[in-house]
Amino acid sequence: VSDMLVDSFGRIHTYLRISLTERCNLRCQYCMPAEGVELTPKPQVLTKAEILRLADLFVSSGVNKIRLTGGEPTVRKDIEDICFELSSLKGLETLAMTTNGIVLARKLPKLKECGLTSLNISLDTLVPAKFELMTRRKGHEKVMDSINAAVDLGYNPVKVNCVVMRGFNDEEICDFVELTREKPINIRFIEFMPFDGNVWNFKKLVPYSEMLDTVAKRFPSLKRNQDHPTDTAKNFTIDGHKGQVSFITSMTEHFCAGCNRLRLLADGNLKVCLFGPSEVSLRDPLRNGAEDHELREIIGAAVKRKKPSHAGMFDIAKTTNRPMIHIGG
Ligand code: GTP
Ligand code: 5AD
Ligand code: SF4
Repeated sequence: VSDMLVDSFGRIHTYLRISLTERCNLRCQYCMPAEGVELTPKPQVLTKAEILRLADLFVSSGVNKIRLTGGEPTVRKDIEDICFELSSLKGLETLAMTTNGIVLARKLPKLKECGLTSLNISLDTLVPAKFELMTRRKGHEKVMDSINAAVDLGYNPVKVNCVVMRGFNDEEICDFVELTREKPINIRFIEFMPFDGNVWNFKKLVPYSEMLDTVAKRFPSLKRNQDHPTDTAKNFTIDGHKGQVSFITSMTEHFCAGCNRLRLLADGNLKVCLFGPSEVSLRDPLRNGAEDHELREIIGAAVKRKKPSHAGMFDIAKTTNRPMIHIGG
């Protein structure tokens, strides 16, 4: 791995999250305000060729996993081509996507052919009426269809992301765990995080300890797995269940010490931490004709400025960041 990807705390950044678009076909409350957000004008959004040039640079420097995010990555018209070309980069082991699953079922066979190796699908409620409330759109059945299509196409596990919010879906936790009984689904309960425009407050956060208690009471055979140091998720199994249960504890037990992630945003900014406001444009030097070694220097300098961890839940709730829709998780 090239020194460009190593920060001043020795963390090695081999995982790049690429946001392909700021657009989305849902309007989730935890991700953006009702009125939506201002979109970067199309000419300032990275083109497929620019994404590939940058991805190639990262992969040849040691990145082995790319996750496509958004907005919603599947609304991008060239999504299949992007997958196809990224998946042929030498050294890339995992090409993953995080999606809301709205149009995934019909696109998935082609995406799989184009080299998509892993899938995380967001679903925050099993009740269609509540889905509409949270996402301000319809589509619960489509998401369920996509989860099933992913299982049928052999994705294993299919990770399902569920942001838990008190008073909204905290009573559904055990129903979600039931999804893991017969299918290789990994349900991931995520602590609600603050981003601009999502009206976070401490009362809506259901802490990991409480979620764990809820699951352990109903499923006494719940057992913690050994997880990888770079995992965002704490993973558990339940006897007799095909799938797994995980918790993403960004707020009450952050996992920054093992962080291996960098983020390339749709507007071409490199963001070295989900909660760090510091960003640097790669698009501008790229469009001004920068050579690879110049881009490497810019990236390396940004990585070296990365902080050891985020500032703690109360401080990150106060700092200005971007809305989640721009960052993609
Ligand atoms: P895997 O690559 O499968 O491990 O998925 P992931 O958990 O990294 O990505 P996903 O897009 O499924 O995101 C799930 C949740 O983890 C979302 O709430 C993300 O915002 C959060 N998340 C992802 N990466 C980071 C990170 O680097 N730091 C923090 N604090 N949260 C993250
Ligand atoms: N807190 C925690 N997770 C969030 N996500 C989106 N907004 C938030 C938030 N405020 C999750 C989505 C998606 C992933 C990329 O991030 O559910 O699965
Ligand atoms: Fe990495 Fe920042 Fe997430 Fe911590 S908050 S794990 S440093 S991206």
